[in-house]
Amino acid sequence: MEGNSYKILGLCCRWCSYAGADLAGAMRLQYPPEIRIVMIPCTGRVDILHLLKAFEAGFDAVFVSGCHEGDCHYLDGNVRARKRITKLRQVLADLGLEPERLEMFHVSSGEGPKFAQVCKEMYERVVRLGPNPVRRTAPAAAASR
Ligand code: FES
Repeated sequence: MEGNSYKILGLCCRWCSYAGADLAGAMRLQYPPEIRIVMIPCTGRVDILHLLKAFEAGFDAVFVSGCHEGDCHYLDGNVRARKRITKLRQVLADLGLEPERLEMFHVSSGEGPKFAQVCKEMYERVVRLGPNPVRRTAPAAAASR
């Protein structure tokens, strides 16, 4: 990866945050182009393994964004997601990866400005933290094979 070209993955619930991202676009709100948005059916479908795979693949930060509590279309998917993410942040810290690289947000379909703010916040975190250390060490590991 060249220069300061960061990659941030945003896993966004189709019912709320993905539409919030659409609204941010329709409102022509600026947010960093480093954000890669993937639509998911509900944050409750995000597994710890998906998140670990994203870091292994070299994403510098990952955020999961879903419906506000009480608004999940699958009742408590977002509550379960928050518990998983809280648990995984602890695991990341134990592994030596800054837990701030992983975050959960709640953004509704009507909150385009909030979605843009979430993207800016994650980008600022990554700039402060630097590249994902897994990605930083990958070329050396590959070269030793
Ligand atoms: Fe949006 Fe569950 S449907 S978080």
